[in-house]
Amino acid sequence: MREFEKPNELIDFREKLGGSVGFVPTMGALHEGHISLIKKSVEQNDHTIVSIFVNPTQFLEGEDLDRYPRKIEADLKICKLAGVEAVFMPKIEDIYSSDELRILAPKIKGYILEGFFRPGHFDGMLQIVLKLLNLTNPSNAYFGKKDAQQLFLIQKMANDLFLRTNIIPCEIVREEDGLALSSRNVYLSQDERKKALTLSTSLKSATNLILQGVRDVKEIKKMMIKSLDVTKLEYIEIVDRDFNTLEEVQIQNSIILIAAWVGKTRLIDNIWI
Ligand code: PAJ
Repeated sequence: MREFEKPNELIDFREKLGGSVGFVPTMGALHEGHISLIKKSVEQNDHTIVSIFVNPTQFLEGEDLDRYPRKIEADLKICKLAGVEAVFMPKIEDIYSSDELRILAPKIKGYILEGFFRPGHFDGMLQIVLKLLNLTNPSNAYFGKKDAQQLFLIQKMANDLFLRTNIIPCEIVREEDGLALSSRNVYLSQDERKKALTLSTSLKSATNLILQGVRDVKEIKKMMIKSLDVTKLEYIEIVDRDFNTLEEVQIQNSIILIAAWVGKTRLIDNIWI
């Protein structure tokens, strides 16, 4: 497996590849969620490139950039075992210059939900994803439904900017008890982990209500709030696949989204109906 730090080295490597190229961008501290994306890419492409870069521009002032988990040795082993051909691990100064041209997330869909509570987060996220897609020029790029709004905005960027990479959505990987895997789960104490589990259980209960015929979003939200045991709820919302907020659940077209703090850890989860 090749390891690259410099953008030009990665471009040279990429230029020489024949056949299809799959790309999986990550911020490292890899877990089974990331691994499922990597495996799908290895299965579906002749070559797979993974990037590991904790992107500073998508963290807001006061967020966990400095303490974000970094496990580069373990990550490299995971990539090698999974059949990755190259890992790109750039330094911040090789990716960003001063007074950069900026990509801006859409004014509405980039500033609701996650974008409302983390204003500017999606600008930074799209900026890095576009750079990485340009560097790796992949046939297919893999993103988890865990970050549903991120996935939606990347698909929108690919459409709006006529990018020539297929954006491939991947299912959410969960622990056996339902907790969605996240690099940030390592922040949770044992007690907090139990509380964190109420995010996924509330989503499951909401799905059951919907299966029983309930369509009223207010009623579903009320039930979910009752079943949560979190420090602070940021939002529960039901949207369609274009991230329009719904008042009535649409069967086969809805995503229930939740974001909440458990202690000092901010968690998100969602379920696609
Ligand atoms: P990161 O949080 O490391 O996630 C990398 C990819 O793994 C994302 O596409 C994310 O949705 C996916 N992922 C995370 N947890 C998952 C789970 N439990 N099941 C399935 N997929 C999961 O998302 C980012 O990094 C960054 O914003 C990035 C796109 C790399 C840009 O910096």
